[in-house]
Amino acid sequence: MTHARQHRLQVVAHRGASEEAPEHTLAAYRKAIEDGADALECDVRLTADGHLVCVHDRRVNRTSNGRGAVSALELADLAALDFGSWKTRAGAGVRDEEPDWVHRPEDREATSVLTLERLLELVADAGRRVELAIETKHPTRWAGQVEERLLVLLKRFGLDAPPRAEESPVRVMSFSARSLHRVRAASPTLPTVYLMQFVSPRLRDGKLPLGVGIAGPSLRIVRSHPGYVERLKRAGHQVHVWTVNETRDVDLCASLGVDAVITNRPRAVLDHLGRT
Ligand code: G3P
Ligand code: CA
Repeated sequence: MTHARQHRLQVVAHRGASEEAPEHTLAAYRKAIEDGADALECDVRLTADGHLVCVHDRRVNRTSNGRGAVSALELADLAALDFGSWKTRAGAGVRDEEPDWVHRPEDREATSVLTLERLLELVADAGRRVELAIETKHPTRWAGQVEERLLVLLKRFGLDAPPRAEESPVRVMSFSARSLHRVRAASPTLPTVYLMQFVSPRLRDGKLPLGVGIAGPSLRIVRSHPGYVERLKRAGHQVHVWTVNETRDVDLCASLGVDAVITNRPRAVLDHLGRT
C-alpha cells in the first residue's frame, strides 16, 4: 500500500506534549493541540474491567501515586489516582532547564487517568484536524481483546473503517505483527504502523509483512542503518520515526524524506521547522 499524500514532515506529539506536561494526560494532549501538533501518539492498555486507558508502562507506579498493573486494576481504581504530581520540579519528571509544568490539583480531569474514549472526544472537539496514532500494548496477553475494544470504540466515533487509508485521521501502531494483523483483518482500510526497535533479517529489504503500510523505525535504526529509510520508501511505505527530540535529528529525518517524527517536544520541533 502506498501512502504518498504527505508533502511535509508531520509532527506527532509522543504521549502528548510529554516533555512539559505529564505523559498520557489530558493536560499533555491539550498542550500538544495548543502547540499545533499535527497528530497525537498514545499507548493503550486494557483495565481489569475492560476499558482502554492511555498508559505506557505495564504498571502505574512511575506515572501516578498508585501501584500495580493496569490489567489488575479497574477503571474506578485508576480514576482515584493522580497521574500528574510526579511531573513537577520536586519530582523526577521535569528537566531542570525546562519550564515547570503547572500542576493544578483543582483541575482533576487534567491529570486523571485518561481513557481512549476521552482522548477521542478531545480530538473530535479540537476545531481542526488532529490525527491520532494509537499504539496497542500487551496485545498477546489479552488475545485480541485490545484490538476488539479499540475497533468498537473507533466505530462509535465513525473512525473504524475509513473509505481510504490515506484519508484516515487514525492509525494503529504496534511492535506486534499479530496485533496489526488482527486490526487489518477486521478493518483493511485502517492504516497500520509496524514499529521496529531493530531491523530483523526478514525486514532488511524494507518490505513490511501483512500489507502494513507504514514503517515505524526507532531513531536509532535511522541513525545506524544508512539507506534503510530509502529502502522502506522504495517499497512504498510511509516512514514514521520515534522518538525525535533533538533538532539535528529532525533535520536528519527531513533530509531522508521521513513522513512523520514522533516527539516529546512538538512545539520545539514545529519552531525548528518554521511552523509557528
Ligand atoms: O511511537 C512509538 C513509540 O512510542 C514506541 O515506543 O516505548 O514509547 O511506546 P514507546
Ligand atoms: Ca508508544
